Amino acid sequence: MFKYLSLALAALLLTASPSMATAADAAPIVIKFSHVSAESTPKGQGALLFKKLVEERLAGKVTVEVYANSTLFGDGEELAALSDGRVQMLAPSLSKFDKYTKRLQVFDLPFLFDDQAAVDRFLKREKSRELLRSMNSSNIYGLGFWTNGMKQLSANKPLRTPADAKGLTFRIQSSSVLEAQFAALGATTVKLPFAETYKAMESGSVQGTENPWSNFVSQKFEKVQPFVTITNHGVLSYMVVTNSKFWTSIPFQIRSELESILDEVSQSVNQTAEANNQRDYEQLVAGGKAKIITLTPAEQAAWREAMLPVWKQFEGDIGADVMHAAKAVNRK
Ligand code: LMR
Repeated sequence: MFKYLSLALAALLLTASPSMATAADAAPIVIKFSHVSAESTPKGQGALLFKKLVEERLAGKVTVEVYANSTLFGDGEELAALSDGRVQMLAPSLSKFDKYTKRLQVFDLPFLFDDQAAVDRFLKREKSRELLRSMNSSNIYGLGFWTNGMKQLSANKPLRTPADAKGLTFRIQSSSVLEAQFAALGATTVKLPFAETYKAMESGSVQGTENPWSNFVSQKFEKVQPFVTITNHGVLSYMVVTNSKFWTSIPFQIRSELESILDEVSQSVNQTAEANNQRDYEQLVAGGKAKIITLTPAEQAAWREAMLPVWKQFEGDIGADVMHAAKAVNRK
């Protein structure tokens, strides 16, 4: 009897041990996080902080590989790569989701947000939380918003009045609102991936663009486009996204920890973005290569007036609820 019991026990151990070993030694989940910006920018810093915290708190369970500067995927291909599982996390600018939802176009409307503080308030509102779910049907799951900063205009000639932009070609992100914004100035546009922008400026095929200071400085755009006008006419913010199917396949406890880390990182990015841009602006001034144009209030008002008709074109698609919530965050 004893012999049979020992045999049965041995058989049990033999069959049980491989699967127990598999559970204990399960390979860590690998999250490839790809983005197009430099590591020094708010987005670049956020991705690195996410990696650091995940590897501290979920050691052995999750590893994060960060690919900055379009080294894994560029703008044109990253969302397709997310969809078929070649990458697990991205943080595209909100201007790059045009194809998937019209609701996010609100962020591109010129002069909608008075300043970065207004954008920050909007990103904390319930309406913004709803926008994180606006691409569920395309399997794109929004984990949080990261902000970069207010956009400035640059060109290979000084832009002081809206008429100065007439006839120029501007590089834009893939957004129909941005296309309309420049059309309102009598300018033409070309949609180009971020990684191709410098070359297009250098070759002269585009004569202007728009960016927050952190992107302008980290890409050394002043070498090819030295005139920057402080317009603060729009915002550049991001949605950190993952593939819904991939995300829900992660065991619940690990997923919850990842989401709480992401919330912590989002807070850090959004609290430090403005200082990050201010630092880069000061670096640009100190470098002495850029010619920075400061507008008078009347000149600033002229840009606003020229671009404002764009709202009418898009507010129907964006939706009255989102428009209302966005306008409500301004305090001026
Ligand atoms: C751009 O294409 O200008 C930006 O979206 C780049 C970025 O910061 O992601």
